Amino acid sequence: MLRSLSAKAIVPVAVAVTGFVVVCCILLYSVMKTDMTNDATVQATNLANTIVKSTRYAMLKSDRETLSNIIDNIGGQHGVETVRIFNKKGLIMVSKDHAEVGQFVDKKTAGCIGCHAGAVPKASFRAMEQARTFTNARGSAVLAITAPVYNEPECFNADCHFHPPEQKVLGTLDIGLDQAPLISALGVMRNRMTIFSLMILVLTVGGVAALLRRNVFMPIKSLSNFTEKVVHGTIGQDFPRCGGEIEGIASNVRTIAEELNKAKTELDKR
Ligand code: HEC
Repeated sequence: MLRSLSAKAIVPVAVAVTGFVVVCCILLYSVMKTDMTNDATVQATNLANTIVKSTRYAMLKSDRETLSNIIDNIGGQHGVETVRIFNKKGLIMVSKDHAEVGQFVDKKTAGCIGCHAGAVPKASFRAMEQARTFTNARGSAVLAITAPVYNEPECFNADCHFHPPEQKVLGTLDIGLDQAPLISALGVMRNRMTIFSLMILVLTVGGVAALLRRNVFMPIKSLSNFTEKVVHGTIGQDFPRCGGEIEGIASNVRTIAEELNKAKTELDKR
């Protein structure tokens, strides 16, 4: 009876706790994953805008050497897979990979399509549209950001080269960052969460089992022993002193047994 009762009490608790913990952990993981990915995108976008700002002067002066030097240095940075600057026609002006300088890119390729999807190109796009992810030839996951290089008064007033003021976008900067650190951080988080959920499970189920044993199963066991002795004619000394309903049942059983005993002795006397 004890065994089946404990099974009945503990199994549903274990199943409910497991389900609850697993669902919560999956939800928490997906929320944190989205947050971390968005954070990475925001950081990469800031980096792209910083590069655009720091190369502005070189672009303004049409100083190819300085520009190419800045891009080489940024490209040499750990985790930077690609950096390139396109002119407004889609020609690669400078790039980390010198071999692709001078190549044309179609405006329908990823990174350009964000603005060139419609018949009239958009001059700006939302922060999250600037980002795209892909797996490069070396098999690493890359987060790429396209930052527009806008036309500004200095650009169309510059004496060295000329952009018509009505032209809004002079070119784009494209930077690709290796996502391995983010992926490994997510992996570590996933493992920690798995260990944490197992810990919660073991502690909760263990704690509930210990409490049930102390507060329910032990009193029921002593009630069962007590009633067994009563049935066999001895009103035992091991009366369950646990209070509550169990002690109430035991005391009722004892009263009934005593009444029965009295009735029996009276009958015997007659
Ligand atoms: C921020 C949005 C934006 C991005 C990103 C962008 N363009 Fe453009 N592009 C424009 C706009 C706006 C024009 C229209 C001219 C202007 O106002 O600057 C244009 C004009 C052009 C033109 C000449 C007009 C035409 O439609 O043929 C070409 C070619 C072009 N873009 C190619 C590209 C390529 C290739 C890329 C990707 C490397 C790219 N663009 C990325 C906004 C963008």
